Amino acid sequence: MNNPFTLKGRTILISGASSGIGEATAIVCDQLGATLLLLGRNEVRLEEVKSKLSLGAHKSLVVDLSDFEVLEQVLKPFLESTGAIHGLVNAAGVTSTFPFKLFKPEKLEGLLKINVHAAFYLSKLMLKKMSKSGGSIVFISSIMATHGEKAKTLYAISKGAVSAGVKSMAIELAAKGIRVNSVAPGIVNTPMTASATYKKNEELLKLTLSKYPLGFGEPEDVANACAYLLSDASRWVTGTEMVLDGGYTAQ
Ligand SMILES: NC(=O)c1ccc[n+]([C@@H]2O[C@H](COP(=O)([O-])OP(=O)(O)OC[C@H]3O[C@@H](n4cnc5c(N)ncnc54)[C@H](OP(=O)(O)O)[C@@H]3O)[C@@H](O)[C@H]2O)c1
Repeated sequence: MNNPFTLKGRTILISGASSGIGEATAIVCDQLGATLLLLGRNEVRLEEVKSKLSLGAHKSLVVDLSDFEVLEQVLKPFLESTGAIHGLVNAAGVTSTFPFKLFKPEKLEGLLKINVHAAFYLSKLMLKKMSKSGGSIVFISSIMATHGEKAKTLYAISKGAVSAGVKSMAIELAAKGIRVNSVAPGIVNTPMTASATYKKNEELLKLTLSKYPLGFGEPEDVANACAYLLSDASRWVTGTEMVLDGGYTAQ
């Protein structure tokens, strides 16, 4: 039986694979038959993720994505022995939460560097390796790109840039058979949100959860959407954003 959701025979590169959404995406893609190229900064955690995967030809690379020169240098030899790449998931990212009155340009620059510049630069570096028979690039944006929250202005700016960039990139790359999409999650239980203020204060947690009809998400909920966007099941989908938020933005 034809299964358009399969990732058998596909090679997929995932940044931020050492934690949270990137880790879950690696596990789901592995279960769907993909060969994985995993990027992360933390070698120990990256190896831990690899140990959770089947015994495939998976490879990993320890690299800080915010050092663009080093990224370009190390990516080339890492990809040399690999054939065509069919998918890329830009899951590496950082967050920030603080009142706008504390805004400083360098804080925004730090956030943009990893959430925007590194994700788009990595995508550009991968273009030549993308399969001639088509490829899929997935970015992780956030509902903060379209819906405001206190203390999230800088993070929202960075995710707004991701959501917007994806659309023009999709138009430009369609002729090469490369699809480009983003997912926009609400709050997902990952190490990124583990120490959020609302998780430390019972009343605030209750209030925040009340905005989520289906509760907070789990990394797998985002990983499954990424797997769909990487597979042939989404072959007619490009330049779009899939909202994954347990009903947060429906209200
Ligand atoms: N969790 C949520 O509620 C939520 C909601 C919406 C969107 N998102 C987005 O989803 C993405 C993944 O978030 P997450 O929740 O999975 O966070 P996470 O568990 O903290 O994972 C972040 C990942 O990004 C990597 N990373 C960060 N800075 C890096 C750098 N300079 N170079 C290389 N890798 C770097 C980390 O690597 P190390 O392990 O080496 O540090 C880690 O693998 C982010 O873009 C985030 O903004 C998350």
